[in-house]
Amino acid sequence: MESYKLNNGHMIPVIGFGTWQMEEGPQTQVSVQEAIEAGYRHIDTAAVYGNEKSVGLAIAASGVPREELFVTTKVFNNDRGYDQTLHAFDQSLERLAMEYVDLYLIHWPARGEAGAKVNYDTWRALEKVYKEGRAKAIGVSNFLPHHLEPLMEKATIMPMADQIEHHPGYNQQETVDFCHKHNIVVEAWSPLGTGRVLASQELQEIAGRYEKSVAQLCIRWCLQGGTLPLPKSTNNERIRENLEVFDFTITPEDMKTINNLPAFGSSGLHPDKINF
Ligand code: A2P
Repeated sequence: MESYKLNNGHMIPVIGFGTWQMEEGPQTQVSVQEAIEAGYRHIDTAAVYGNEKSVGLAIAASGVPREELFVTTKVFNNDRGYDQTLHAFDQSLERLAMEYVDLYLIHWPARGEAGAKVNYDTWRALEKVYKEGRAKAIGVSNFLPHHLEPLMEKATIMPMADQIEHHPGYNQQETVDFCHKHNIVVEAWSPLGTGRVLASQELQEIAGRYEKSVAQLCIRWCLQGGTLPLPKSTNNERIRENLEVFDFTITPEDMKTINNLPAFGSSGLHPDKINF
């Protein structure tokens, strides 16, 4: 598995296994183990997914040394603020049964001027766990440039990653460009639009020409655009299929066509509109 280099030098495998909408329990443990067996070395979870325990158990059972795996988790909205975040971080480590995570993210930005202060207080907690070596890298999720800018003005450590919804039909190019300009790796949650983009005629036609599935096309499209896809699947065949993306290249012309598709398939979860 190839890697990107984060702005602190820590390496991050270019495809991660997403675990959103996978519940705590044996099924998740099996899927994460299947993913590791298939070759994934990067697992993405979050406190709010409620599956950190299963992820930790799968990793422990995989037999792959901890240092060969990249594990991300996130602090959720109800734990924003300095003290709360430190507490939430300890709880995540406990559920994962780990001494460190590779990447710790603020899951969603708080909004407005008051929100900017909350985001900074939360960020200070991330800076602390980073300095302690308990998070090897820190970053944000669902932050748009207008959330990142005030944070970056005050931060002493710059965010290393921003995990956003990103897939054909919803590429959020302005945020991707902003992040790339500031050396922040963009991770793509729902790179298949949680399945919503798979029925697209245009994508099917393009994928067919490469003898690849639409899922593989979407994952490859992320990689060629310099972003980091986090596909999720609970099906062993599809878990494997989603890694078979290193044996073809999308032409610049097809990249352009995909980039310029009219908007479709977004989750509707906009950081300035969500009510959770
Ligand atoms: P399943 O878990 O049954 O495989 P996203 O990563 O964008 O959130 O998309 C995840 C959704 O897409 C899940 O419903 C998953 O279903 C489905 N999925 C994942 N990989 C594939 C694939 N290769 N082909 C078709 N559907 C897929």
